[in-house]
Amino acid sequence: MGKILVTGGLGFIGSHTVVELQEKGHDVLIIDDLSNSRPEVLDGIAAITGVYPEFFKLDLKDKTAVFEFMENQQIDGVIHFAASKAVGESVEKPLLYYENNIAALIYLLQAMLANKVSSFIFSSSCTVYGQADELPITENAPVKSAESPYGNTKQIGEEILQDLTKVEDLNAIALRYFNPIGAHESAHIGELPLGIPQNLIPYVTQTAAGIREQLSVFGDDYPTPDGTAIRDYIHVVDLAKAHISAMERLLSGKNRSRMEFFNVGTGKGSSVLEVIRAFEEVSGKSLNYKIVGRREGDITAAYADTTLANKELGWKAGLDLRDALRSAWKWQEKQSRETDN
Ligand code: WQD
Repeated sequence: MGKILVTGGLGFIGSHTVVELQEKGHDVLIIDDLSNSRPEVLDGIAAITGVYPEFFKLDLKDKTAVFEFMENQQIDGVIHFAASKAVGESVEKPLLYYENNIAALIYLLQAMLANKVSSFIFSSSCTVYGQADELPITENAPVKSAESPYGNTKQIGEEILQDLTKVEDLNAIALRYFNPIGAHESAHIGELPLGIPQNLIPYVTQTAAGIREQLSVFGDDYPTPDGTAIRDYIHVVDLAKAHISAMERLLSGKNRSRMEFFNVGTGKGSSVLEVIRAFEEVSGKSLNYKIVGRREGDITAAYADTTLANKELGWKAGLDLRDALRSAWKWQEKQSRETDN
């Protein structure tokens, strides 16, 4: 078993990955700057696994602090989630995104190499494909020019790793996520969107909980069966498990090259209206929504070809859309109960 550093480990995907790492017997350290997460997430993780991971409040943009941390720890591998991820905000504040998502990545990689830490999992996104020409999307699909500074930081991050792994003793895997949704079945951890949710599922659950008045469906004039856009919604626990498979692949030296890419999705696309219907079924709630115009920058459809991840990582999503929506609603109900008390 390894000693794994999870940056952004108190975030949505990070916290679920920490749980799965601990349950596989790994020793986990978390770095998080708490800019988009809360320390109480540690209690949620410990409530599930019985183990409090060591937590270091640290900003990865502080190069000195990053080097000091890496010198003082014997890390076997790093899973890097810490980054800003709001597409719309990235358009308004590009420099914040390039500093937080790229400069911090560079300092982390420099500190790793200086301390001979050679296994790295990078949190990437299907955003790099833009609107792919062919569906389902394979890892060979061309990376298209980014539609947002956020998406560009994912592309630049991948390019930095491609260049670095050619000349340094570094083995890296970029996991290209589709749409992560849901929460751990215990409802001890889940998604904690700060402010008005940008993503569909937290907006759906907050509408059903009465926190939001009405969901706006961004466009029903797409060239899809019901006119609404299609995405590949993957349960966050399945996504977390893909990170464990990827890290263990590197720690055991099974990677075929120093830089690998895997699409992580269910392989199934669902439209916004299909998501709404499925949510109403699993929650028993009738969702208040209206159709409005398209959102700037949205693509028509994206869903993964997961053949490579299935074959090389030995990983396959085990949960489906309804499982994820059921868990998201259970998490929302718990949040609402705690807010009311
Ligand atoms: C899903 C669908 C919207 C909100 C983004 C990032 C991607 C990744 C996942 C980080 C779209 C529609 C949404 C709403 C709606 N994030 N929608 N009403 O845009 O596919 O991907 O989040 O890695 O990088 O780009 O996800 O959840 O915002 O939207 O109709 O209030 O739901 O138009 O079709 P998206 P999303």
